[in-house]
Amino acid sequence: MVKKITSIDDLSLTEIKLIVDRAIKLSSKPRSIKAKTIKNIFNLFLEPSTRTTVSFELAAKKLGHNIFNINFDKSSLSKGETFEDTMSTLVNMKPDALIIRDRKEHSPIKIFEEHKIPVINAGDGKNEHPTQSLLDYAVLKKTFGNKKITIGICGDIKHSRVAHSNIKLFTKLNYNIEIISPNYFVDKKSVSKINNKIVYKNNLNDINNLDVLMMLRVQKERITKNLNSSLNKFKANFCLKNSHLNSKIYLMHPGPVNRNIEISDEVLDSYKRSLILKQVEMGVYLRMACLEHLL
Ligand code: NCD
Repeated sequence: MVKKITSIDDLSLTEIKLIVDRAIKLSSKPRSIKAKTIKNIFNLFLEPSTRTTVSFELAAKKLGHNIFNINFDKSSLSKGETFEDTMSTLVNMKPDALIIRDRKEHSPIKIFEEHKIPVINAGDGKNEHPTQSLLDYAVLKKTFGNKKITIGICGDIKHSRVAHSNIKLFTKLNYNIEIISPNYFVDKKSVSKINNKIVYKNNLNDINNLDVLMMLRVQKERITKNLNSSLNKFKANFCLKNSHLNSKIYLMHPGPVNRNIEISDEVLDSYKRSLILKQVEMGVYLRMACLEHLL
């Protein structure tokens, strides 16, 4: 059966736990574990990325695979070729797997359905970013074991693919989820379709009950109306400062951070319980585990 990770919905809880436990194991014994057969993997990034693209590349190389990085400027898309024609071209070179980040929603699943090759969604518009959620869970599991935690997700939920995948995953895990966001950055109707037990808060003043606070980036590139006014309002009311935190809450952010919009310099540079760089580190092992699962 050809496998895919285009959404958290593609994985059963058992598969999620296998992938995450494997990533944790790889992270505690960071030696390279070569795959038996070398595969050819295409890493197609049609939106900017630092962490995700490099971590997939490093993950593939640590496993001994060949990986080919393609971005918009390097591809014939920049010469006006249609998306579909570029895909047929790439697929006919018979890659063993395709990793894709695209600004359009649902393109990873469409490629899978049309070409029946293993596909990983590395972020599709504001829809989903399943490998980011899996790596977040791996960091949480390493920190809390199997404890049922309470996690607050704060920021631009509406335009964030990380939020959408994480709400699905944390719901599957039975975590308590709180969304801390102004009304203009959350669509409560669509969120309650995934989980109707979520608690909503509209400020950061009452977060002492949280085990973890996950801040999310304001997705400037996806906001079409009143960008500056939402940015300024958000910054004034939700930018995380030392005064919001007690020393017990763990802090996460998938990166990149808009400094002093979601997180102040004082917190980003010196908060002791920040897991942000642990998320970066786990990204490589988690993506190794995902490639092993897929191939
Ligand atoms: C996220 C993304 O691209 O969706 N970043 C990442 O993959 N580490 C989050 C974001 O860009 O805000």
